[in-house]
Formats: sequence, C-alpha cells, structure tokens
Amino acid sequence: MCGIVGYVGSSTACGKPLEVCLQGLKRLEYRGYDSAGVALAAPGMDHVAVRKKAGRLANLEADLAKHALPEATVGIGHTRWATNGAPSDNNAHPHLSADGNIAIIHNGIIENANVLKGQLQTEGYSFASSTDSEVAAKLLGKMAEQVIAETGKPDLFEALRRVARQLTGAFTILAVDCRQPDVVVGARHDSPLVVGLGEGENFLGSDVAAFVAYTKEAMELGQDEAVCITADSVTVTDFEGNEVTEPKRFTVDWDASAAEKGGWPSFMDKEIHEDPAAVADTLLGRFDEKGDIVLDEVRIEPDAFRSVDKIIVVACGTASYAGLVAKYAIEHWVRIPVEVELAHEFRYRDPILTPRTLVVAISQSGETMDTLMALRHAREQGSRVLAICNTQGATIPRESDAVLYTHAGPEIAVASTKAFVAQVTAAYLLGLYLAQVKGTMFRDEIHQVLDNLKAMPDKIQWVLDTQRESIERAAKRMLNAHSFLFLGRHVGYPVAMEGALKLKEIAYTFTEGFAAGELKHGPIALVDEGEPVVVIVPSARGRDTLHNKVISGIEEVKARGAYTIAVAEEGDPDAERYADIVFWRPACPTLLSPLVDVVPLQLFAMDMANLKGYDVDKPRNLAKSVTVE
Ligand code: F6R
Repeated sequence: MCGIVGYVGSSTACGKPLEVCLQGLKRLEYRGYDSAGVALAAPGMDHVAVRKKAGRLANLEADLAKHALPEATVGIGHTRWATNGAPSDNNAHPHLSADGNIAIIHNGIIENANVLKGQLQTEGYSFASSTDSEVAAKLLGKMAEQVIAETGKPDLFEALRRVARQLTGAFTILAVDCRQPDVVVGARHDSPLVVGLGEGENFLGSDVAAFVAYTKEAMELGQDEAVCITADSVTVTDFEGNEVTEPKRFTVDWDASAAEKGGWPSFMDKEIHEDPAAVADTLLGRFDEKGDIVLDEVRIEPDAFRSVDKIIVVACGTASYAGLVAKYAIEHWVRIPVEVELAHEFRYRDPILTPRTLVVAISQSGETMDTLMALRHAREQGSRVLAICNTQGATIPRESDAVLYTHAGPEIAVASTKAFVAQVTAAYLLGLYLAQVKGTMFRDEIHQVLDNLKAMPDKIQWVLDTQRESIERAAKRMLNAHSFLFLGRHVGYPVAMEGALKLKEIAYTFTEGFAAGELKHGPIALVDEGEPVVVIVPSARGRDTLHNKVISGIEEVKARGAYTIAVAEEGDPDAERYADIVFWRPACPTLLSPLVDVVPLQLFAMDMANLKGYDVDKPRNLAKSVTVE
C-alpha cells in the first residue's frame, strides 16, 4: 500500500538524504499516491525537519523547491495510500512525537490504535491527525523518554522495539530522532521492509525499488524483526532485542528502470502476486478481541442489518462476478435472497425494492458510472446502499449510505485481479456479519468459517508458488487457440465467467463462460476437435454429486475431442484421469474456493497475452475506470 524509504550516509554536504528519499518515493509511487512526505535529521537540530503534502509526490517536490529543508545526515520518506484517515496534509506521513524530536512513517494498519490512543489521551497526549500511524509516533516518543530515564541516553532502536511489542495488526515503521542523527531504525510485522547495503551508506525500503538506483546489494528482514542502520553498520534483532546473526542477503537482478512496477515485468504480474495480501489486508482490523466481526466503519446500525430481508448486488464486469460468488455464500449463511444484477440493466428497470432491501454496490474504482447510476436509482426508491470499494474518497462510497473498503492497494493494471479477491473477501465478511447479527449461524460456525477464510492467503500463495510451470505450459500449448469455453457449477460458475473475461480482455481471445449444467442445452455444439475447455472442478469432499456432475461434463467434452484444462483440488484422481492439464488448488471449503480458483486463471490469461506480445497492463480499447455510460 504505502511506500517507505530510509537513508543514512556519511556524506552531510550534498543533500543526499533528501535526494535518496525523493528518488525512492518516485519509484514507490505505484504503491500509493495520495500524499507524500519526508523527515530529515542532522547534528545540532533541535527537532526533526518534516515536510508533507497531500496529493502526488510532485506536490511535495514543488513545495520543497520553494522552501528548502536543511541539509541532513539521515532521512525517511513516505508515499501514502490512505487506509486510515482521509488523504490530507495532516494525515500525510511522517508523524511526530509530542516533543518533535522523533518522526515516524508507517505502512499497514494498527488494529489496537484506538485503545492505545485512548490511553495516551488520558495521559495528556493530543493528536494532529486521524491516522492510526500517529499513535505509533506518540507512543515512540513516550518509549524514547522511558529509555532515557532508565539508561541516561537516547536509544531509538530500543524504544521502537518497545513500541513494536505493543502494537497489533500489520506494520512497517521507520523512525529518525534528531538526538541520534546517525541512525534510522525500522520494525516490521506482516508488512514488507528490506535493507539496501551501500558503501558508507545504507538504505531501507518497502521493496528494493526504493534504493536500486544506488545499490543492488540487499538484505531481507524476517517477520517481527527490527533493524538499525548507520552509515557503516546494519543491526537486526527480534522485538525482544536478541540479535539476528545471519540475515539473508541477496543481489537485485534487475535495473532501476523497472522499479516503478516494483521489479515485476508488469503491474498485472505484480498484482496477481498481491492476491494473498489483498485478502489478508481486507480481513485486517475487522475483528474484536473475541474474534467477532466488527464493521463499525460501515455506519449501519446492527438493528438495520437485522431487518434486511433481501440483498441486490449491482456491479459491472469482474465486480459483478464477485457479487455472484457472494450470492452463493450469503444465501447459504444468512438465508435471505440475494440477486445479482449488472448495474446498467438494473438502472433502467423497475426493481422491487423496499426499505428492508440492502443494495450492495461493488466497485474497485468507486467511479464506474453505471454502478453509480444504479445506486442512485436504488436510493431514490428508499433502499439503503452499501458500497464495497477499493478507492477512498471516490464517488460511489461517498454517495452510498455505508462503505466496506477492500484493502487491495492501488490496482494499476486495467484487468482486475487482486481487487476481485478483495471484493469476494469483503462480501464474505458482509455475509458473515449479517449471519452474526441475525443469528442465522452459531457463533462457533461463524468462527470456523472465519478461521478458514484467514487461511486463504496461504492457500493462494501455494498456487502462486507451485502451479506456475503447468500454467505456462498450458498457455504455450494453447497459444493458437481461437476460442475457449469456461465451465463451472455453483461458485465455480462465477469463477468460470471471470476466467473467461480475463482471457478475453488481455489476450483478445474469444471466450465464453457458462454454468456447466448449460452444456447440453446449447454450448456443447461449439465443442470440436482440439477446442480448449477450462473446467472448474469442485471438491470431491462433501458435495459428491456436484463433483461427479462436473467430471461427467469433462468426459462429455473430451469424447467430442476437446482439450481440457481443469482447476481441481490437489490429488483429485478424477481430474487427473480425465483432464489434459490440471491446475491444482489446496483443499479448502467449497464456498471459499473462488479465492484460489481464480488465481491460475489470472496467470493463464496473463501468460497467453505475454506470449502473444500484448501489453497486459493496458489492453486495447479499455480503461481502468469507466466513468461514462
Ligand atoms: C475487468 C475489469 C472490469 C471492471 C469493471 C468494474 O478486468 O476490470 O470488468 O471490473 O469495469 O469496475 P469497477 O470495479 O471499478 O467498478
């Protein structure tokens, strides 16, 4: 989400800390661009020098050009994608300790920020922003004073470890202190941070893009590790202060020019690999200490949720397929009807809406005109609208009664990938929350589903780590195919539709997604010798009939000469026997399986487009955000 850079060097005269921070932020801007800021420290300063501006990095640069900051020995920089607190100068990072000696930058979400803030406020601390990050800044100032009181000297590294031990959620934090203008310290938990190793200078960054223009030598930091860099040393410890003796080093094997994409060949490739984080981040901060779902941000009273007797999802394209997955899950969990309608059809109908109907508008960009019009149509008729959206401050969440943000981070490639899995995750959360307030499931059952949901990022990662080769092989084998059929049943049906859309939009291949049960009602006429058919195979566990029916579908198309690709559960002997190629998924509950099943199809579409030499990030005739009808 946010981009983070830190620098310490032995040279004081050339303004290098600021230069490195700004260069690093330019390369990290794809991670977020709603505000940017830097903090610098040098010997003799009586507080850290901070400059931060809402908007693109260019705003900060223009401001710095007008009013220069003093030269410094250390610096940290941040480019923000707001998750907590609207984009504004105040909410921009860095944030300061109460005495102004320390500045911090933060990436992630601090889940216990409200509790910590309450405690600090009781002790007299005041806050200039509405971010969770400022809580870490104030707490770090407090811990730094505590360390000085105990040892007689400042020790920012120890103070940061004390803060890290108190935070829950996900964070990378970097800090500088004007009383120690020769160190930058950092700590990470469930959020990235790497070290760049220079000659007489060292770097920290969200990824190597932050410093690859200066050094290609880098060091990984592990989970729950803290780091202190000086010009000549790098010390890594755990949060208790035990030194990590052999941190893993590596050499960056690509050039700075690729850095805008964080080293990925395309934004799409990068974004598919962010699928696990998109799911994990969308779940983050949405549970109380008892593990129940808390959707305070949604601003609809539990009583109002309790009265909901029908849901209508309005969305377009990929977002509508996320809605279709939600239909299967929510109807099963909440026992209320869920309709899914393309926004552009809904808006011209006379839908039957009552005040007890909840309309859910799903949109990554938050700006899709058709979806916006559909939500206005619903509100005019007295229904409540809840937006599931990935973009803060966009029109759709602003005009909705409530919003549930997905935290997939900025999606730059036109073809939606990580936003889809984040939308599905948010829809699951909504369904389980409704089940919680309406009491349609036992608490234990909900917690069981949530435990399974929390395990999904690892399962997606497994697909990314283990299935690459067979996907590439399938793409090479299918390169000259003129058309594809995608088939699925139950939640496999929307996955089939989404897989077909991906291939259509970036590989320019004619594809159709069908409910597998429709095969004999028409589409089977299209099957010919060598025709590729992609089939989403449900697990054999529990839903035998569904599994067997889909396997029969594979047999039927194979009997007519089709070349079959299956997405199936690891070790499924029927898939192994009947499909020509299988993309395996690890075992998971059927209702949650779309989160993993879509991943090989995203990769397959990308591989096909790459092999054909197309620009996977900017497919022809398409735009990321469709703001016209
Ligand atoms: C396909 C894709 C589109 C969008 C659709 C809705 O890869 O990206 O189908 O899903 O245009 O866009 P949002 O979610 O921004 O409303």
